[in-house]
Amino acid sequence: MAEDKNKVWHKALELDELPEGRVKPVTCEWVTVCMAHFKGQYSALDNKCPHQGGPLGEGSIENGWLRCPWHEWDYDPLD
Ligand code: FES
Repeated sequence: MAEDKNKVWHKALELDELPEGRVKPVTCEWVTVCMAHFKGQYSALDNKCPHQGGPLGEGSIENGWLRCPWHEWDYDPLD
């Protein structure tokens, strides 16, 4: 597998900064992502909802789904 020499890693959160079952918008340089902590795993998703661009990082995890705060569409918080 070839190494991506253009990949740049940024520290987004301290481990205790995002409780289990919560999401939060995090800006790294000029990109804001939706950080999620669910089932012991962390994920970084596009902060813009595919429906109409709602801020997913301001949503919530309800019954295992990340719910967009604008029109309540649900997404897998880890995918
Ligand atoms: S913008 Fe997210 S559900 Fe509509």
